[in-house]
Amino acid sequence: MSVVIKTKDEIALMRESGHILAKVHQELHEALHPGMSTLEIDQLGEKLIRQMGGVPNCKNYEGFPGSICISINDEVVHGIPKSDRYVEEGDIVTFDTGLIYKGWHSDAARTWGVGKISDDAKQLIDVTKHSFFVGIKKAVAGNRLFEISKSIDKYVTSYGYGIVHELSGHGIGRELHEDPIVPNYRQLRRGILLKEGMTICVEPMITMGQRYVDWLDDEWTVVTADHSLSAHYENTIAITDGEPEILTMLDDEQGE
Ligand code: MF3
Ligand code: CO
Repeated sequence: MSVVIKTKDEIALMRESGHILAKVHQELHEALHPGMSTLEIDQLGEKLIRQMGGVPNCKNYEGFPGSICISINDEVVHGIPKSDRYVEEGDIVTFDTGLIYKGWHSDAARTWGVGKISDDAKQLIDVTKHSFFVGIKKAVAGNRLFEISKSIDKYVTSYGYGIVHELSGHGIGRELHEDPIVPNYRQLRRGILLKEGMTICVEPMITMGQRYVDWLDDEWTVVTADHSLSAHYENTIAITDGEPEILTMLDDEQGE
């Protein structure tokens, strides 16, 4: 395991990358409406990323065909954009995407309701989002990595939700996926010591039912095994000498 420490100048560039990504997410949310195909969403996302000077980092990643992973309802992550797949009123839809700007990656995911959604679905989305904020309270230099995992686990399981184990957060920087792995569930070991200058993605993937997942035959889409709803929330953050800095959120974006 080798965790790359970033300088303040490098983090400044990651902040620019993250800011662009946050704007892309905001515009995608504003554009989202029932009847849109997931390919339309992907094409809009790719256009926005490129217009703002970024390069989509999902596109062609290990052969992924899109720029935005679009996962609906029981789909957890890595949904492939399609011209004949539409979002409908009452769906919950996750946009997971990232970009490279001046050589630096950013990565973030949001789950949104399409039109009016059930109270249960809304709670799942809210708890998933809040679990990120609970987790990053521990993302402080001098703490052990898995304190983040433990606090997410404790909070999420108190609602009876499932935590996906097969996928985790990760370090990020010049590469999309760097060390360390950042699990969202309690660990047997304490993990690495967090240090100023580490940049990681914290990304709880939460299910309304059991935590188990399957892969669809398309080789990408991860779905809940019991077909319960799933939500995802992710930001790229930097460990500082104080509070963690969230690099992929806008100032006026609603926080925890
Ligand atoms: N941001 C997602 C992740 O970190 C998607 C990566 S690109 C994909 O896993 F090709 F895997 F979709
Ligand atoms: Co990620």
